[in-house]
Amino acid sequence: MTGLTDRFGRTHTDLRVSLTDRCSLRCTYCMPAEGMPWIERDRHLTTDEILRLVRIAVTQGVTTVRLTGGEPLLRPDVVDIVRRIRDLSPAPEVALTTNGLRLARLATPLADAGLSRVNISLDTVDRERFATLTRRDRLVETLAGVTAAKAAGFDPVKVNSVLLRGINDDEAPALLLWALAQGVQLRFIEQMPLDAQRSWDADRMVTAREIHERLADAGFSLSPVGGRGSAPAELFEVNGGPQVVGIIGSMTRPFCGDCDRVRLTADGQWLNCLFARSETDLRTPLRAGADDATLAALMRRDVATKKRGHGSDDPGFVRPDRGISAIGG
Ligand code: 5AD
Ligand code: SF4
Repeated sequence: MTGLTDRFGRTHTDLRVSLTDRCSLRCTYCMPAEGMPWIERDRHLTTDEILRLVRIAVTQGVTTVRLTGGEPLLRPDVVDIVRRIRDLSPAPEVALTTNGLRLARLATPLADAGLSRVNISLDTVDRERFATLTRRDRLVETLAGVTAAKAAGFDPVKVNSVLLRGINDDEAPALLLWALAQGVQLRFIEQMPLDAQRSWDADRMVTAREIHERLADAGFSLSPVGGRGSAPAELFEVNGGPQVVGIIGSMTRPFCGDCDRVRLTADGQWLNCLFARSETDLRTPLRAGADDATLAALMRRDVATKKRGHGSDDPGFVRPDRGISAIGG
């Protein structure tokens, strides 16, 4: 048997690979200022190990590989990783989620290596706010990264924003104006209970509905673009189009029923959900000499146990032990 299909008939074709849990920023909703429990060096998969697991996942039906972190561009061999994934047969699409800091230098080499899509995380275009929110005064570098991604030909360049109450939740209209002027596709994402320091609070979350209202109140006309498919973002044409804005209601409008994602952490753990309570260790069997069929069977067995949804509304909901920066966003 091949294929990453679960009990609910969902087929998994999108593999998210975290290249490192380290990051050049310290976003307050993601990590504490200090004292993150980092994955030890020798637990990080090597490039060859990543390639082997990606190759096996491709034999199991994966068609898109998204590189994440932490900050994936901190990994010195990231361009090589993209090229080697693109050299697989059949070659999956390769996408990247980055904070953009190193993109000014890397956008063109990444495009040349065969990267097809880029998502840049940016929650504010105000320098002081950026410094407060990320605890690093590096907005210029992210903005240069956005410019470089466009210049390298990525189209659309997607920008992901998380709104935080009392910090940047008044900035939705300004972010959208900025994105329209830049010609990038903005997507607002509801904050999820995946911060390493466990400070998420349902009552403080800025909801998809609220984001929509704030944009409408600011005078934007938003018309739904039909057919969400398996994409988490609900897209709206702005002021008659053609530009669109996305709203991702991860918590209030979960898209679990259409989920096609599986994940591989930087330390070689396989997860069937961002909210999974258990992980399948692939690093240990891989390093003990397991053959491809054994590793593929472990991937399939893990997917077979995938839950229907993240269940964050259930009274018994327990969030995962690791934060998003260690799982891969
Ligand atoms: N909720 C929602 N999105 C988050 N991200 C990081 N932490 C959270 C969270 N708790 C986003 C980043 C980036 C992507 C990898 O995930 O802003 O866009
Ligand atoms: Fe880094 Fe992304 Fe976490 Fe910010 S949200 S600290 S950019 S991993």
